Parts: sequence; structure tokens; C-alpha cells
Amino acid sequence: MSQKNTRRCPFERIQNPDLEAEQIAETTDLTVKLLDKRYPPPKQILRGVHPKSHGCVKATFTINPDLGPEYQVGLFAEPGKQFDAVIRFSNAAALVGPDTTETKIDPKTKQEVPVEEHGSRGMAIKVLDVGGEVLIDDNGAHNQDFLMINQPMFAFANTEDYLRLDRILLQDNDMADRFFLPVFVPDPSVTDEQKQRIATSLNIVKEDIQKTDVGNPLGVQYFSAAPFLFGLDRVMKFSAKPYNEELPPKHSPPKPRPDNYLRDALTETMNRNEPLQFDFMLQIRDGSDDFGENNELIENASTKWDDDFVSVAKITIPAPQPEVDSEENKAHCEQLAFTPWHSLVEHKPIGSINRLRKSVYQASAGHRLERKDPFVQLLEKLFKPLFG
Ligand code: HEM
Repeated sequence: MSQKNTRRCPFERIQNPDLEAEQIAETTDLTVKLLDKRYPPPKQILRGVHPKSHGCVKATFTINPDLGPEYQVGLFAEPGKQFDAVIRFSNAAALVGPDTTETKIDPKTKQEVPVEEHGSRGMAIKVLDVGGEVLIDDNGAHNQDFLMINQPMFAFANTEDYLRLDRILLQDNDMADRFFLPVFVPDPSVTDEQKQRIATSLNIVKEDIQKTDVGNPLGVQYFSAAPFLFGLDRVMKFSAKPYNEELPPKHSPPKPRPDNYLRDALTETMNRNEPLQFDFMLQIRDGSDDFGENNELIENASTKWDDDFVSVAKITIPAPQPEVDSEENKAHCEQLAFTPWHSLVEHKPIGSINRLRKSVYQASAGHRLERKDPFVQLLEKLFKPLFG
């Protein structure tokens, strides 16, 4: 994997670069420590976040034939151009569990109580062989990855907050509750500014994530949440939205829901004969726009841009794809590595959370792909004498 050094962009404002570099290094280190704790040998190591997949599908990514010249930048330079793509749908949760939590232990009574807590859902698109100059290549290939969640804001604002979260996850066996405690109990180690951000995080988790019931991963809108360059002098956020609101079926199953009902819904939809389409859309801003007093519309990923979305491409998922639930497809899906830094230089990831993601995704993918599935290991062992 080769990497390009790139200059700082005029849209970013890093308050304390040395401190941020230390925070990124510690978070990267914690990512590996968390994986080692979750998956002791001989367990297969899964992704650091989004380990549960609902399925990977084949798709095409076509730039709108009538795209205006002002949008013909980077991947979108050639109207009508079609690329092959793969898409992985996932749950964001750090651990593999039921798609929706329906019971919990009440900390006071220690009794099991009914709840309904949904999680954040992910859509990761890998647009293949895009040519051009990339920031990090994908095993030698020039691919453009677009990673999205089904909320327009990310629950954690910046590197400082994400590091605090990771420290708590490691100490508390993947329980995040203590992260939100400063909202309720005074904590002298947390500044007022930080406390305000934590309150926003709690609100996003409780209101935007846990209350959003997704019946089918193919039927909802996804967002980048974080910003990216759009050429040298503009910035973008991106989103993928189902083109036909009627398709696919969005019903949620009756309760109690099967643990993997999102995989079931995706598989069922991919066994039908109707192809699906998503509109790929951008919000675009330039240097004359107001990014807030502390540049928070770039540096704080929990903020939302209110600008209208412009459609720039169509994603088509051909159907049927009955192989989507096969063991072979699942194994292939596990081997893929998505990162926002698999990107053309024109769409460089920007802002604190995106700077953090560069080394964290590399550490997670590097670590999990080092220790392969025991079945794959066995095959390699058996066939090694044949291949030397
Ligand atoms: C705007 C914010 C973010 C979005 C939209 C986002 C979205 C996603 C998605 C969709 C995936 C699944 C990719 C796949 O299917 O393989 C993913 C994976 C991952 N994310 Fe994020 N994410 C965000 C922020 C972060 C942050 C701040 C961190 C940690 C610093 C992080 C760490 C990871 C890791 C470790 C993986 C798995 C990488 C691998 O092993 O291949 N993400 N993310």
C-alpha cells in the first residue's frame, strides 16, 4: 500500500497539531488493544467498528450524464462515465449483536426490562478502478471509498472526544456509559466546552440513533457526516438516498425480532428481480461560506450542514444477486478494507475526525487481515506443500 503526503488544506484549522498527533497515536494504539481484548486467539479478528455485516452487493456507480460543468471535479469529471462498485452494509456497533436491543438489565433492580434501542447503520461504497491520483492505494488499486452512516451527524465531535471514548471502552469492557456521565455528574477533568459536546453526543445517540428504526438496509438514506474536499477550493459532504421511495420493502419484523433481521431483509430483497437505485448527492460549500466561529462546520463532525443536496451520480444495484448470503460472499466481504483515505486527492478527507480515521482504519484492517479466518488458515496449511 503506498501513501501520498499531502499539504494541509485551507479549510482545516488544527488548534494544537502536536497534541492532536499524540491523541491520534494513542487512539490508534487503543484500536489494536481493543481488538486483541475482544478477539483473543484463535478467534478471527473482526473490524474495530462496524464488524457486523448485513451483506456485500455488486453495483455500478454512474456519473449523471447531464452533470453541470461546475460539478465536474475528481470522480465526477466525466458525465455519463460508469464504474463498477461493491457496497457493504453494516451495523456501526463495536460488537456483533442483535440488530435491535429489546431487553436490558435495569442497573437498579437488576431485573430484565423491555427496551427498544436501535443502532447506527453503515453503507460503505467502493468505487473500483477510478484512475487518477489517490491518497492511499487499495492493495495497488485506485479505488474511491465512500463511507456513510444513516445520520447526518457523527456522534463524536473530534479526536479529543473519540480518544476519551476509546479509553473508557478499554477500561469498561466496551461499555460506553461512562463517556456520557459528565452530563449528569460534575467532573473537574472535563471542560465546559467538552461537556457541551458530550451533551450533543448523548442527544445524537438517544434521539437520532436509538430511535431510528430501519427495516431494510437498502431502504434508507446514508450520510458522510464528515466533510471532504471537492477540488482545491470547495468542500463537500455526501449522501446516498434510495431513488424510488417505494422500493425496497421497509417493513420491520414483528417483536421479538430475529437477531439478524437486517441481513434477512437485504437477502430477501436481493433475491427479487427488481434492481435498486440510490441517488448519490453532494452538499457543496466554498471559501466564502461561514464555517462557524471555531470552524466547527469542518472540525466538529457532530454538526450538520443545512445546504441542499445536488444529485451527481446514480448507484444501481442489479438484482437478483442470490449469492449475497453465500459463505463465499461473506468471506470476500470480510477481506475488503474500506477507508475514507482510499480517495482521489480531489476528495481528501478533512476535519479532526477524518484526520484521526487515517491511521485508525489502517491499524484495524491491518491487524484483522493479519490473523485470518481459521478455515482460510487451514486451507493455506493444506495447500502449502502443493504451492511451495
Ligand atoms: C463521520 C464519521 C464516520 C463514519 C461515517 C464512519 C463510517 C464507517 C463505516 C460505514 C464503516 C464500515 C466499513 C466497512 O463496511 O468495512 C466504518 C468502519 C470503521 N470505522 Fe468508521 N466512521 C466514522 C468515524 C470513525 C471514527 C472517528 C473512527 C475511529 C477513530 C472509526 C473507526 C472505524 C474502524 C476501525 C472501522 C473498521 C475498519 C476496518 O477494519 O476495515 N470510524 N466506519
